[in-house]
Amino acid sequence: MTIGIDQIGLYTPNWYIDLRELARARGDEPDKYTIGIGQDQQAVAPSSQDIVTMAAAAARELTIDTTKLGLIVVGTESGIDASKASALYVQRLLGLHPWVRALEIKEACYGGTAGLMMARDYVATHPGQQALVIASDIARYGLATGGEVTQGAGAVAMLVTEAPRVLALADDSVYYAEEIMDFWRPVYQDTALARGKYSTEQYLAFFKRVWAQYQRQSGRTVADFDALCFHLPYTKMGLKALRLALPAASAVQQAELTARFERSIQYSRRIGNIYTGSLYLGLLSLLELDDTLTPGARIGLFSYGSGAVGEFFSGTLVEGFTAHLHRADHAALLDARTRLSIPDYETLFRDKVPYGPADYSSDPAFFAGPFVLTGVSGQERQYRTN
Ligand code: COA
Repeated sequence: MTIGIDQIGLYTPNWYIDLRELARARGDEPDKYTIGIGQDQQAVAPSSQDIVTMAAAAARELTIDTTKLGLIVVGTESGIDASKASALYVQRLLGLHPWVRALEIKEACYGGTAGLMMARDYVATHPGQQALVIASDIARYGLATGGEVTQGAGAVAMLVTEAPRVLALADDSVYYAEEIMDFWRPVYQDTALARGKYSTEQYLAFFKRVWAQYQRQSGRTVADFDALCFHLPYTKMGLKALRLALPAASAVQQAELTARFERSIQYSRRIGNIYTGSLYLGLLSLLELDDTLTPGARIGLFSYGSGAVGEFFSGTLVEGFTAHLHRADHAALLDARTRLSIPDYETLFRDKVPYGPADYSSDPAFFAGPFVLTGVSGQERQYRTN
């Protein structure tokens, strides 16, 4: 049975900042942000958007046969409740049927991959059933922190089915886990803590380890890959990992892998880090912006979640995959966003949902997007479908 990604949806909020402007405001060289870190823009989520509204908006792009849906899993590391799963709100907002398992999964940025693998196993053991996997996150490090340049917001939704129409997943995962303190977010705060340099070193060490083991286990080498996608906390991070794999490739293949990597980072350059969804944002960017890949092409994917878990796996493109992408919609989504000045971004960043009754903003633009959080009343989050 072939199992894989049948459709992919994307959502990112309506606002962004220009990172050259942010660099100037922070007294940094703009080239450090755009070249050294590899980011051009950063999506900014107002407090009327959270992982639920973004997850529902990304999944809204998918055509789901609700009678076949048996699992809804949301991967996130910026959850809104320590107990209740965001998947339940998503189920209600999308009007999905109740005969499903609905849950949330956590392991830093690895949560999207954990969800995808759970979905693949679910479909394998429940023939004819489908699974909805959503990776949704708001990356917040704090104003004027070292990690600020690597913030972002957005969600990627994937429908996992038998006979998928986009990417057939191979059963070739290699994964490795080890408890380390490179990045974490205690439940009492809404910004992440990171040992920035250490986390980048660990990301690369995990990649080297699982890539070497993958090659031993599968018998495949870099020559077997048409493209490599990486978890992209910032795009330079992925480039550093790619450079570890390139030396074993021929000159021609090095050029091809590098060109395709460039296409895989374009959405991330404009949206920023979306934690659990970053790897899949890279995959989506590659599929929608590259017109050289053909059916049967093998794509390698490296997932990393601080704390830490690393996994390398692959998939092959399915005949006719381009017909099931939303390239024009995603270009429109990104182009329609409004640029914020840095002071306006700082105001929005500080704005928090009040945990009392009533709306917290009178500006209708604040409540833009297919789904919005209008406030918290009686300790219950209030969502609205626009
Ligand atoms: N022009 C071009 N490049 C420049 C530059 C300039 N004017 N000034 C600096 N750079 C380069 C540096 O040489 C460096 O490149 P390198 O990584 O290839 O050596 C890069 O920009 C970053 O500079 P650095 O001084 O290392 O940045 P930083 O101390 O601000 O830290 C992070 C960067 C990523 C560690 C920080 O943003 C962070 O902590 N992010 C959150 C954690 C994270 O994303 N971890 C990833 C793994 S999950």
